Amino acid sequence: MSEQAMEEDQQSYEDINAVKTPFDVAQCDGDSLYTYLPNWLNSLTDEQIRAPPMSGNVFQQYIRQSHLESSMANSIRKMALNEDRLFTVDDFEFGRPLGKGAFGIVYLARLKKTKFICALKMLHKSKINEYSMAEQVKIETESGFKLNHPLILTMYDVFHDEKRFYFMLEYAPHGQLYRFLQKLRRFSDRLAASYIYQICHALEYCHSKSIIHRDLKPENILVDCCGNLKLADFGWSTKIRHADTMNTTACGTLDYLAPEIVGHKQYQYHVDNWCVGVLAYELLSGHAPFEGTDDETKVKIANINYTFPDYFSPLARRFIDNLLQKEPKRRMQLLDCIAHDWLQRNAYKYLFGPYKCPIYVHMDE
Ligand SMILES: Nc1ncnc2c1ncn2[C@@H]1O[C@H](COP(=O)(O)OP(=O)(O)O)[C@@H](O)[C@H]1O
Ligand SMILES: [Mg+2]
Repeated sequence: MSEQAMEEDQQSYEDINAVKTPFDVAQCDGDSLYTYLPNWLNSLTDEQIRAPPMSGNVFQQYIRQSHLESSMANSIRKMALNEDRLFTVDDFEFGRPLGKGAFGIVYLARLKKTKFICALKMLHKSKINEYSMAEQVKIETESGFKLNHPLILTMYDVFHDEKRFYFMLEYAPHGQLYRFLQKLRRFSDRLAASYIYQICHALEYCHSKSIIHRDLKPENILVDCCGNLKLADFGWSTKIRHADTMNTTACGTLDYLAPEIVGHKQYQYHVDNWCVGVLAYELLSGHAPFEGTDDETKVKIANINYTFPDYFSPLARRFIDNLLQKEPKRRMQLLDCIAHDWLQRNAYKYLFGPYKCPIYVHMDE
């Protein structure tokens, strides 16, 4: 990382702290909601979990709805500016930093003109060049525009200036799923299954659009104001290719790497299915299945060497075993995951709370 880029980042943090009253979406933030979500879920009766009042695939309805809303996402610029020009950073006022990415900071931001709230992910061009990641930024943009799904973070727009790229993203008020996991230490079967259920739907949709996420982990899964997941960070995503041109790039996060990536072999979309298994294990236990030093983890992954804590239910074990298969083709398919008994018996099969598309939030009202 170049010193100049680091300095710039530091400066932007200071700039933000210098703002006297950075705005915040106060009603969506705060600790109270941390405990709200699992308590609410735990209070559901078995009957409510197993026999949803609405029949059919409720998620399919949301997906159809999201296609309607995609036209909204695509016309945000028009609604927001009422002009046909590109955004510039001056169109925004900045709130608190939401997180730090590999190439820059993500800020809460709001359009000055319309008060539309979003997250602005900045990427320093100098850092992108330093790591030769230009192609990956292009793919992140393409994936962002291609995907429209209620469980995937919407990308509204991308623009750039001399120094940076800016991704204008849907704001996920609860931030990383990782924070929930840290707070609760580990999730109940119900909560873990409900979230794995949502992730399976989101990933199945990505794969149907020929996109592999490749970096699934609790840090890249965000939580919206109702407690639903928003799959985020398509910075490592790639297109599914034909068998003769499969990917071999080694990427992702060590704990979540599939054996074929660790072994530098060719791989396909099955790497995401592997990650679902690792994620299910981590949500249920609070730690990844192949934990250790980097070298230990690699060896454990290559040998599929993991054990379950006593409290894992037989169904959860079976679910995870079916995904943590060395041979990619033997790994459970996402649609089979959705139909698996562990999810069918435990997952809450709706989106939590009233489903709302991103709306204008008038802070001054
Ligand atoms: N739309 C958003 N709403 C809330 N927080 C976000 C949003 N986008 C990113 N963040 C925060 O910023 C962090 C880094 O963003 P991410 O897109 O994962 O960057 P990177 O590709 O560098 O990992 C996330 O882990 C999250 O904590
Ligand atoms: Mg990330």
